[in-house]
Amino acid sequence: LNNGLVRTPPMGWLAWERYRCNTNCAQFPDDCIGEKLFMRMADRLVSDGWRDVGYEYVNIDDCWPSRERDANGRLVGNSTRFPSGIKALADYVHSKGLKLGIYSDCGKLTCGGYIASGGNEKIDAETFAAWGVDMLKYDGCYSNETSRKVNYPLMGAELNKTGRPIVYSCSWPAYEGGLPPKVNYTELNAICNLWRNYGDIQDSWDDVVDIMNWWGDNQDVLIPAAGPGGWNDPDMLIGGDYTLSLDQTKTQFGMWAMLAAPLFMSNDLSKLEPDIKTVLQNRDVIAVNQDVLGVQGRRFIKQDSIQVFSKPLDKGEFAVAAFSTRTDGTPHAIKFSLNDLKISGAKFYSLFDLFESKHLGKYSTAEELDIYVDPNGISMFRASPISVENIFVEE
Ligand code: GLA
Repeated sequence: LNNGLVRTPPMGWLAWERYRCNTNCAQFPDDCIGEKLFMRMADRLVSDGWRDVGYEYVNIDDCWPSRERDANGRLVGNSTRFPSGIKALADYVHSKGLKLGIYSDCGKLTCGGYIASGGNEKIDAETFAAWGVDMLKYDGCYSNETSRKVNYPLMGAELNKTGRPIVYSCSWPAYEGGLPPKVNYTELNAICNLWRNYGDIQDSWDDVVDIMNWWGDNQDVLIPAAGPGGWNDPDMLIGGDYTLSLDQTKTQFGMWAMLAAPLFMSNDLSKLEPDIKTVLQNRDVIAVNQDVLGVQGRRFIKQDSIQVFSKPLDKGEFAVAAFSTRTDGTPHAIKFSLNDLKISGAKFYSLFDLFESKHLGKYSTAEELDIYVDPNGISMFRASPISVENIFVEE
């Protein structure tokens, strides 16, 4: 959507995958869906350096509203869990230099059964704008194909009319199976800033692999759909939760960067292991995600349970990632040349490993690279063109 927003993929934190619909504040005072949780995450985004590397949205998901609209027909936050109200939370988040996202649904109810915006698009868009909300995730439960065709554009138009810049995240294509002819990505791009194409991520490596496979298998549809202002969304980052290993965390993070995906962590920022934090704050990997061209990476090799992607970057550079779904316990070699990834423009490239932070040397595009990939791990590098004059003088 050409509204000036998210010219690079949005980054931040989103409650759903880790915190779900936990409304039990008596037993979980710090972790229930309420203002305390979002304020704590906002604090952490600032104090632990996340904001400084680009994570700026603090996003509420389902289960925030009260069971009734107010006397004026407006949505209100649950008064026990959001005693200060959503406006106060937005002010707090803004005072930290961050942005606030909220969640609703184009049907009568949200997926969790809370009241939603279907039929109340205008007043809800105005309420969100008045509160100072910066992003809306608009879900599709309790809708059908026909109502979605009307209601997604309608909410987009109402958000636009408020005059407040609000990033519009649509779950629409996920409800249509994510593919043409049911999904028209050109039309979607005129309505939404990002969109969920596929099913919900759970705290599971199998899900991460399933999502990456789907993105690779359907890349000819998905790549042209993505670009500045409009992004395919493979769902949240789950590193730092219960199940992913350090290597699996690197793989998800690196591949989401390659896919120009929105980077929304859903984890407990106050309980992250230092090495997980280091991975998710890797500036070189983030720079691949945030590259100004906004081109989604393409898969060129799928062999021996290793997949190799490349992503064109600004100034003739490329990012390359090889990830493994192997389980045979030792790093596995994969051989390819830059030519195999359609990397061209210069004869020679200098390669820099983004997770190891080390130079790998200079390679001609025809030369074979010998890359070893850890089981369930990733090797990721940036390839920078070297002009012929420089190749003899460097080093
Ligand atoms: C759907 C969405 C999830 C989450 C839940 C909330 O399943 O896809 O991302 O928002 O609803 O109930």
